[in-house]
Parts: sequence; structure tokens; C-alpha cells
Amino acid sequence: MGKTIIISNRLPVQLQISNESITAIPSVGGLATGMKSVHSGGDSLWIGWSGLTDEEIPQELAPKIDEALAEHGSSKVKLTSAEVDGFYYGFSNRTIWPLFHYFLEYSEFELASWDIYKKVNQKFADAILEKATDDDTIWVHDYQLMLVPQMVREKRPDISIGFFLHIPFPSYEIFRTMPWRKEVLSGLLGADLIGFHTYDYERHFLSSVRRLLGLDVSFNDIYLDDRTIKVDSFPMGIDYKKFSDAAKEHAQRSEEQKSELQKRLDTHKKSTPDAKFFLSIDRLDYSKGIAKRLNAFEYFLNKYPQYKEKVRLIILAVPSRSNVPQYQLLKKEIDELVGRINGELSTVSWTPIWYFYRSMPFENLIDLYTTCDIAWLTPIRDGMNLVAKEYIATRTDKTGVLILSEMAGSANEMNESILINPNNFEQIADALNQAITMPKAEQQNRNSILQKRLERYNVEKWANDFMTSLRNQKEGNTTYV
Ligand code: UDP
Ligand code: G6P
Repeated sequence: MGKTIIISNRLPVQLQISNESITAIPSVGGLATGMKSVHSGGDSLWIGWSGLTDEEIPQELAPKIDEALAEHGSSKVKLTSAEVDGFYYGFSNRTIWPLFHYFLEYSEFELASWDIYKKVNQKFADAILEKATDDDTIWVHDYQLMLVPQMVREKRPDISIGFFLHIPFPSYEIFRTMPWRKEVLSGLLGADLIGFHTYDYERHFLSSVRRLLGLDVSFNDIYLDDRTIKVDSFPMGIDYKKFSDAAKEHAQRSEEQKSELQKRLDTHKKSTPDAKFFLSIDRLDYSKGIAKRLNAFEYFLNKYPQYKEKVRLIILAVPSRSNVPQYQLLKKEIDELVGRINGELSTVSWTPIWYFYRSMPFENLIDLYTTCDIAWLTPIRDGMNLVAKEYIATRTDKTGVLILSEMAGSANEMNESILINPNNFEQIADALNQAITMPKAEQQNRNSILQKRLERYNVEKWANDFMTSLRNQKEGNTTYV
């Protein structure tokens, strides 16, 4: 059996150059954090973009870049800054991302960026073709690379190719607004297996294939020429053990071993022992509903004024795609909202919102997850949302309440959390009140069910299920032909 080649735009690390030295920074986002656990355990090569454009890499450092990536089992696809603009900031994040998250008004349909998307997808396909032998398995990830499966298939008709989409697949009515809809579907159909987080995304995809390409679809099989393509849902899990072990270790720490952040959190907890900490962690992205959450927080404090000075909202917003205008506008909106709400409601001893605009190392994420009483995640639309799962995994004593948007893929598997509609402020305010007053025993009941499920359906199982299904599909196809 050959090796597995993982291919995605983001590698597990991002390289940065300063003072002629190279630093590798862990990538943020569900794809990278989830696949990292899968990648570190097996015989796989991960191909992707290093995070640096060709123009940013001085010639003398080029070999060192390869060495730095090799340390992480990775190999790079070289991209110029014009390619990054058109492919990443352009078609991927100004056309597909907003469209697939139902932000139609943000979607731009520019022929020039579509052309670059095709060109860059071909570069990724070529990088695979250069490294792969026929008995390797190719696992292509996410919306940036939807044409890659067919590009590889054309040159290697017999190779095994799986594709997984980490974001929602929209309904046919939305998807069909894209001028290049047929090309995108045909690109995906180069795979033997196409995976989604939820059954709804799978259903939407099958409906688009049937209606736009007129192909024969039976249950979750698509018939194309002499091949059958299987479509299925595989809800992605987390590295449960990593989070629960880290939380257990965190609970054992002496005062000296604690991080600066943890010491500060402890000081605040001690000064107001009955105050509740709400936590929200997201990339700064309009699909995450951060601005709505801030408005809902203000609404909650007006509806339940008894909680003034008794609750605190910690927002960790991780910088993301900051060259895209919509993200810049959102940053401004959130800065202003935090400033206004804090300005209006703060007292000498209370700042209602603590806002961090940065990414935090793993250790500090554990500090936040384990310290905060309530995780409040309200995406307007989200493929999965792993943060919700990570929060639950770190609750070693099983206390803590998760308030989760029903628009997140993870809501399908987390029924024991408090599910809310992110647009319904009345419901959100009541959910916050319910969370604050929820008896400990009820928290523990809900969380023990959630934890068992998350432990069982962890990221390793997710990857194994996908790979087993791909293997079965390939064998079936070989017999079929
Ligand atoms: N994350 C991180 N550093 C941070 C904040 C978050 O590495 O400072 C991670 C977090 O632990 C989670 C991922 O980023 O694994 C976010 O994944 P999620 O599925 O919630 O959302 P996405 O960013 O993929 O849309
Ligand atoms: C989501 C996407 C990933 C992406 C991540 C971070 O999780 O599904 O493909 O890597 O966001 O976004 P970025 O644009 O920084 O890669």
C-alpha cells in the first residue's frame, strides 16, 4: 500500500521570515488543527502553500524553506503574490466562501479571479502528480481546491482520490448563481469519494449534480462514464485526548507553573467569585456572527440588568484574511461595537467585554476553555465549528455550559448544548440566563453525554472512516470497470 498525500491550501504551519531566519507558526482554523492530528500519526505527506509568496522568499533562503517544511512532513506549492491575490484573496475568499455561507451580497463573480483559481488549482494538481505513485491515496481538502480531483484524474485515471469539503455546501438555489457552477462540480467529480460534514450539505451537493449536470444519481452514488462516485457525510471530530489531557494537566499546575493569562483570570475570579465568564473564540469572520453576538450581549444586559457587574464576555477574535475588504470592515465594526458597549456599560470595577484580536498559543486556549463558565458560539453559518467540541473536551469536572448556534454543523451532534438561532436576540438572552442559572448536576449530565460522544467520534475515527470508505469505493470501482 502506498502513502497518503494530503493536499490543502493551508499547511499545518505558516512560515514567516524575519531577520533572515524562518519561523514556523501553527496554522489556525479547523482544517489545519484537525488534520494535524491525523498527519502526525501516519505515513503521509502534506502538500500546500507555505504562507509566503515567491516575492517574499529571498533566493538564498529557498532551500531552508523546504527544510523547515520537511520538518513538518510538508512540501510546498510555490505561489506568486499575483496568484495569492487572485486565487486566495480573490476567488476562494471573495466568491466561494461568501457564496457557500449564504452571504450572496458579498460574492464577487470576476472572470479574472476564476482564471487564476483554475491556474493555481493546476499547480496544486501538478505538485501531486510530481510526488504521487499509482498506489498512493490522494486526499484533497476544501473549497480552495475544488478543481484538483479532476485535474489529477485526467493524468492518473486509476489513482485513488478523496475530497473533503470543510465548509457548508449551499442549496442548489444559491449554488446555481455561480457562473462556473458546472466546472466546479465536474472538478469535484474527479474524486472517488466526496465527503461533507453533514447530511444536509451532502443532499445539497447531490441535488446540484442532478439538476445542473443531469447525471444519474442513486441514493448517494453518482454514475459518471464508467465510474461511480460516492458522496457521504463524515462529521469531523477533534483530538479529544489532546484536549482532555491538557485540561487535566492544567488542573494540576502549581501557582508558579500557571501562565500569565491564567494568573490574571484567577485574580478576576477571586475578586468576584460569583461572576460568570462567557467565552467566544472565532477567526474574525463575518460567518461567525461576532457583531451579532455583541449586540445580543447588550440586549441581554438590558433585559436582565441584574447581571450587570456579574458577567464578563471574553472575545478572542483571530485575525483572518485581512486583505479582503469585508474582513477589514468587520474588524472596524467590531472594534467600534466593543468600544461603544464597554463605554456605555463599564463601571469603575467592571469592564463587560474583554476583547483580544490575536491568535493564542494552545496553552492559553486551554486557560480560557477551562476557566470560562459558558462558551457562547453563535455563527450565522459554519461548516462544523470545532471550538464548540474543544470547549466540552476540556471540562474535566463536566461543569460548563455550551450555547451553540443551530447553524453550525456541530449542532447536529451536540443536542445536549443549548441550541439557539443567532438572529433571535430574545431567545439568546433567555439562553444566557438559563446557562447562568443551570444547576451543576444538569451541566454535568449534559456534558457527560457530549464528552462520551466526542471521545468516541474523535478526529482519528473521522479520518479512518473516510479512508476506509474511500478504499471500499475504489475497490468497488475497479471491479465495476
Ligand atoms: N484556534 C487556534 N488559535 C487560536 C484560536 C483558535 O489554533 O488563537 C483553533 C481552534 O482551537 C480550532 C480552530 O482554530 O481548532 C478553529 O476551528 P473552527 O472549526 O472552530 O473554525 P474555522 O476557523 O475552521 O472556521
Ligand atoms: C476554515 C477553512 C479552511 C481554512 C481556515 C482558516 O476552516 O475551511 O480551509 O484554512 O478556515 O482560513 P485561512 O484562510 O487562514 O486558511
